[in-house]
Amino acid sequence: MSFRDSLPWPSGARLDSVEVIAGDAVRPYLAPEQARLGLHEVRVDARLDGWPRGQLTMAAAPLTGLAADGAAATYRHGMTEHGLVARMPGDRVLVALEEGDPAWQDPAFLELVAVVAQEDAPPTVGIGLLGYGAIGAEHAQAILATPGLRLVAVCDTSAARVEAALATAPAARASSDPSDLLADPHVDAVIVSTPPNSHAQWALAALDAGKHVIVEKPMALTTAECDAILARAEELGLTALVYQNRRFDPDYRALKHVARVGLLGEVFHVEAFIGGYAHPCNYWHSDEAISGGALFDWGSHVIDQVLDLIPGEVEQVTALEQKRHWIDVTNADHSRMTLLFDGGQEATFIHSDLAAALKPRWYVLGTRGAVVGDWRTASVVARSPIGTLEEDVLAPADSPPTMSLHAPDGSVTVLSPPPAERHPFHADLALWLRYGLAPRVRGQQSRRVVAMLQAAQESALLGGAAVKPS
Ligand SMILES: NC(=O)c1ccc[n+]([C@@H]2O[C@H](COP(=O)([O-])OP(=O)(O)OC[C@H]3O[C@@H](n4cnc5c(N)ncnc54)[C@H](O)[C@@H]3O)[C@@H](O)[C@H]2O)c1
Repeated sequence: MSFRDSLPWPSGARLDSVEVIAGDAVRPYLAPEQARLGLHEVRVDARLDGWPRGQLTMAAAPLTGLAADGAAATYRHGMTEHGLVARMPGDRVLVALEEGDPAWQDPAFLELVAVVAQEDAPPTVGIGLLGYGAIGAEHAQAILATPGLRLVAVCDTSAARVEAALATAPAARASSDPSDLLADPHVDAVIVSTPPNSHAQWALAALDAGKHVIVEKPMALTTAECDAILARAEELGLTALVYQNRRFDPDYRALKHVARVGLLGEVFHVEAFIGGYAHPCNYWHSDEAISGGALFDWGSHVIDQVLDLIPGEVEQVTALEQKRHWIDVTNADHSRMTLLFDGGQEATFIHSDLAAALKPRWYVLGTRGAVVGDWRTASVVARSPIGTLEEDVLAPADSPPTMSLHAPDGSVTVLSPPPAERHPFHADLALWLRYGLAPRVRGQQSRRVVAMLQAAQESALLGGAAVKPS
């Protein structure tokens, strides 16, 4: 049996074109400007040119410096970058990995090779944006920059927002009527970025129109709405995901990295804080009936991070909300929610618009170390038209905190985040819808976030009594 045939490939993988080309045998395939580099450098270069996706990195287009003519990928196993998998002219797949490399025994790696070996690239995914407000431009730019996604349509009831969308994506079909977008046969998936109290309505309408749906956070305002979305998606064989983009923020990725490699031991206590002393915005975000309240607005990010960080089930949620000062908005001025996990771990999130003194963004204790995320005071500095200095001081939450690892011996190390990924959520979406590679953010995870927020809402109404999330 050949080496290739001896491997535990996923069932149904088409392998005729897979060739194992190990070590220096890769060199003839490299473009001249790459030939003088060590193979390790070639791989890193390929990764930067591809679509970073955590452990797997894929590029649908030919890679700079490598004479591939189709999909290509590098693979990260533990802390090291392994090999280069590339679709070569003649439909062959080259795997630049020594036969003894441990990645060959990893099912995820073999799945990646099998994906690259697929003969025909799946069609690109047409995306329609429903709601083009503050977050609209971020989605538009991410879609335009992500291979495999096409921005085909935008819809906003505001003419000014439609105009803004067309300035970014002139080729998109524009409308002010959601039914036009939902009826558009070129739209395969709809991103719902209307205010939260309408997420369920539009997500269900998009699914019923046969479209995959990506909902902005929070998925919806109740678990009943989330369940309806997830059940409808499953029934129709479609996907429902939530844009939990802060899972990929640099501060959280740095924290997750040190936790995953064991530098914290077991994480047992988390405090997360967002806020400051300022009037809440005069917009729907501060209107509890539309946003779900301050805990829903920011908590849908923070609780998603906490649930991703701490394993296990949440036994109970307690919360308190205080209304003391900003009487012209309905959101609470100061909110606190605490999750108690079945392993005894505890996580508290505070959101405050009445905090004249800031707590750190993160205060995380583990059995072998701790991480603190300190807010930075950053500002954007420019010259005014008459030449004087203009300084725009950012709100604390607008710049990523400085993350420090505290060791038991008292030493402190400032953490740099792992290498940034380019539009990781959208890249995952393209890989999922085109190649079936599971995304890191799942619909059920976002439903679980809403369950915690809803339990916190109930606990606050009960004056802080413990509520079991369901
Ligand atoms: N993931 C993030 O980091 C992030 C950041 C900001 C906002 N959000 C979320 O994105 C969503 C939108 O927030 P935003 O700040 O962009 O709000 P926004 O008010 O700026 O934008 C909402 C847009 O939806 C449009 N709209 C409302 N109803 C519509 C309808 N029926 N048909 C078509 N268009 C309609 C409005 O005209 C507006 O342009 C919210 O769920 C919010 O929580 C997420």
